[in-house]
Amino acid sequence: MAIERTLSIIKPDATRRNLTGRINAKLEAEGLRIVAQKRLLLTKEQAEAFYAVHREQPFFVGLVAFMTSAPVVAQVLEGDSAVAKNRDIMGATDPTKAAPGTIRAEFAENIEANSVHGSDSLEAAVQEISFFFAGIEITS
Ligand code: RTP
Ligand code: MG
Repeated sequence: MAIERTLSIIKPDATRRNLTGRINAKLEAEGLRIVAQKRLLLTKEQAEAFYAVHREQPFFVGLVAFMTSAPVVAQVLEGDSAVAKNRDIMGATDPTKAAPGTIRAEFAENIEANSVHGSDSLEAAVQEISFFFAGIEITS
């Protein structure tokens, strides 16, 4: 296994309900290290840019409105196979389909307000980490 870094976002539904610490505890319990973290309120332009891959999706306008509705916590996670491991810890996009014990099964409100984002490939992770963090802000 290789040490990887991935981009995680604790989404507005979770920050609103004060769940940052409980989500971070799950990530750490599974062996991922939080090597950078910041809380910020995304602008509409920033949310549109971050989720540009979904621009043509019917849920795009709602997704941008949701992601700008309250602060998010952006974080870099590091560990063995961090990209796939974080996706496992998160669970399926739709919380009704998420495996028991995953973050989305425990905390998500619905398919949109699903508590966390995670990069879905190593290439996406590199790009998404650089969207939020300068290299000097990340320390193992
Ligand atoms: P994410 O990118 O946030 O980690 O989530 P994901 O890979 O599991 O799902 P993706 O297909 O990339 O969708 C991005 C986010 O858009 C919202 N969504 N809403 N209303 C809907 O049907 C719908 N489908 C997706 C969710 O917030 C989803 O995580
Ligand atoms: Mg995705």
